[in-house]
Amino acid sequence: MVIVLGVESTAHTFGIGIVSDEPRILADSRFNYVPARGGIHPREAADSFIKNAPSVLREALSQAGLSIDSIDVVAVALGPGLGPCLRVGATIARALSIYYSKPLTPVNHAVAHIEIGRMLTDARDPLVVYISGGNTVITAKQGGRYRVFGETLDIALGNFMDALVRELGLAPPYVVGGIHAIDRCSEGGRYVELPYVVKGQDTSYSGLLTAALRAYRSGVRVEDICFSAREVAYSSLVEVAERGLAQLGKTEILLVGGVAASRYLVEKFKALAEYRGVELYVVPPRYAVDNGVMIAWTGMLMFKYGVTIEPENAVVKQRWRLDAVDIYW
Ligand SMILES: Nc1ncnc2c1ncn2[C@@H]1O[C@H](COP(=O)(O)OP(=O)(O)OP(=O)(O)O)[C@@H](O)[C@H]1O
Ligand SMILES: [Mg+2]
Repeated sequence: MVIVLGVESTAHTFGIGIVSDEPRILADSRFNYVPARGGIHPREAADSFIKNAPSVLREALSQAGLSIDSIDVVAVALGPGLGPCLRVGATIARALSIYYSKPLTPVNHAVAHIEIGRMLTDARDPLVVYISGGNTVITAKQGGRYRVFGETLDIALGNFMDALVRELGLAPPYVVGGIHAIDRCSEGGRYVELPYVVKGQDTSYSGLLTAALRAYRSGVRVEDICFSAREVAYSSLVEVAERGLAQLGKTEILLVGGVAASRYLVEKFKALAEYRGVELYVVPPRYAVDNGVMIAWTGMLMFKYGVTIEPENAVVKQRWRLDAVDIYW
């Protein structure tokens, strides 16, 4: 049996997960940085990771009932993400690897969001819709890589939703009890026209954000703005996903990334799946958002295919694209 310990620290979550190759999740320990107001402050987030990392590591080992000696491989998310945050995880992973003489495996955070979705669902060869705070990507595996068939031209879907509710004075926190502030605020909303943008296979949300905030300032009801902005943003995503399906002839859709935890978005994709007669799979909400387990599991796959890195070469890559990673499985 192989046991991998994975370190996640790309943005707002410092997480350590431990998995075995059965596959089984042995531990899942997390610390979440929540800014007092506004968006993520990278240096503040990194400082909070440094303070909390020892207890997250201790908690993970205790959940697994293992000592560090029983860990076979250390995996770390080297990117993409925020430099100061990434450096905390990379430093800890390099130190563990060197001090305890464990092989080190580099993991791309975006690949990990997808692989945890594949591990926890029955999806085999899906069209992947990866939607999070930092990404909006339609992708599928082809020729040894996750190829990108559509993405946002500007801000990500999660970032769009977060920025909107923040500017409307409804957040942070953005998600309470598994429900995003935009969903709470949309109740009783009616549709008002906002710009719907799809260019080729790509979506765009920054013009929508500007228009929604302008409508708010001109007196449109806040519930109408939330409802309409969400409707437009989700519909444009479903449109490009549907085109991806048709183009690639896929019979499965897999939703991954933090926004996949949105029940309302899942409903929209259910309707699309029924209409096109394809299977819909959704990563469980707990593993939709950032976590160490997805890094450990992807590290396991990388390790099984012989991918390791010398600690001195394990530098962070803030802009490491999904489609730059060779996928051997
Ligand atoms: N229940 C929910 N409904 C809607 N959105 C949600 C929900 N839970 C989390 N999100 C959104 O998911 C995003 C965070 O997702 P995740 O942790 O995967 O992203 P990230 O790490 O910020 O970005 P990336 O993974 O691309 O680097 C935030 O925008 C958050 O508002
Ligand atoms: Mg993420």
